[in-house]
Amino acid sequence: MLKDKSILLVITGGIAAYKTLDLIRQYRKAGASVRAILTKGGEQFVTPLSVSALCENQAYTDLWSLKDESEMGHIRLSREADLIVIAPASADFIAKLAHGRADDLASTCVLAADKDIMIAPAMNHKMWDNPATQANMRTLEKRGVYVTGPENGEMACGETGMGRMSEPETVFEDTLNHFQNGQKLAGLKVIVTSGPTHEPIDPVRYISNHSSGKQGHAISEVLAKWGAEVHLVSGPVSLNPPAKVKNYPVTSATDMLNQVKNLLPADIFIGVAAVADWKIKTPSDTKLKKSEGATPLTLEMTENEDILKYVASCDRRPDLVIGFAAETGDLKDKAKRKIKTKGCDWILANDVTHTNNIFGSDENHVNLIKSDENNELSCEEWPRLTKKDVAIKLAHEIADKFKTFEREGKNDNNLNIISAK
Ligand code: C5P
Repeated sequence: MLKDKSILLVITGGIAAYKTLDLIRQYRKAGASVRAILTKGGEQFVTPLSVSALCENQAYTDLWSLKDESEMGHIRLSREADLIVIAPASADFIAKLAHGRADDLASTCVLAADKDIMIAPAMNHKMWDNPATQANMRTLEKRGVYVTGPENGEMACGETGMGRMSEPETVFEDTLNHFQNGQKLAGLKVIVTSGPTHEPIDPVRYISNHSSGKQGHAISEVLAKWGAEVHLVSGPVSLNPPAKVKNYPVTSATDMLNQVKNLLPADIFIGVAAVADWKIKTPSDTKLKKSEGATPLTLEMTENEDILKYVASCDRRPDLVIGFAAETGDLKDKAKRKIKTKGCDWILANDVTHTNNIFGSDENHVNLIKSDENNELSCEEWPRLTKKDVAIKLAHEIADKFKTFEREGKNDNNLNIISAK
């Protein structure tokens, strides 16, 4: 599965280093060639001898070793790898990476790397929760470093919490996923809308909804990891934009539509945002005062233009237009009607009855409704999944769809790129 792939493994100081020995075994069994660097801390937990025996390659430890440097310079160590995996990644090494330090062989190689980097953090839960570590992690994620884990559970120190290194099987799976899916959507331009919109009443008040943006952001993150060029048009949310995604923060539905228009054309449009259906016809320029206004206050509202409908019918229509439908009751029938009125190709419909606890949660329960070339509708109910897993499943569907386009000779712009993968 990893034949012809070359992995540079960096083992830093942490008790979880013993798991890395098993990870090496799994990489080797899958056909990857593995070279390893141990930091001084790493050497305290596993020996270079056991690491090199499992890698069937010399393990490197010293930046200043004349012998190592003449045989395999540190720049070549990182250049020859297809992927750099840092497991376990200690809090100290994560801080070093975030700050671009290069004071030993491992940090120098990683700083000199021109390849993707994956880290498997492992540390005490208080160290993980520390704002310094969290800020460092955000810095790394923004730079596009892939993160696997950590997990919640009992720690070597006897405490329990978040910070356990993922099991070797999980790190291996994530590595595989990186190689198998990393280029699947390369060459495709995607516009994703996410989050709620704010429709102003006056300079301090607005009308909005409960959308957190988690689903739209998760979709953007996964599609970007799969190689797509992702443009995320996001209403006001408290989430960080995912790595490798171009983020366009907007406030109102009108701003969102204008931004989407600016970004067209694209291969794919995914309208995940919970766009407000109405806006205040004439928002007040000054703050409305209780004493001055009539009670009850009457606000005249007018409909916002439907972004999804606009994109699905515009002359620069993307090849694949996907909408979301948050409904309460009669889910499938309403979604089937919606796919027709909006003119989109697919709809992901979810029931947002409050008992389902979807808004703001990390999980989603969706039905994928597809309209084919003959306007025949199909419906597939997905199990309740994390929003990240919904995004991964959608990415698979999109990749399959574009493979079909490729077979049918559609989507000429992407033909070369898709067939190159
Ligand atoms: O009609 P409804 O709001 O239920 O439709 C939901 C779908 O339409 C979502 O994909 C949402 O992003 C999109 N939408 C839109 N512009 C609007 C309203 C909804 O793009 N003004």
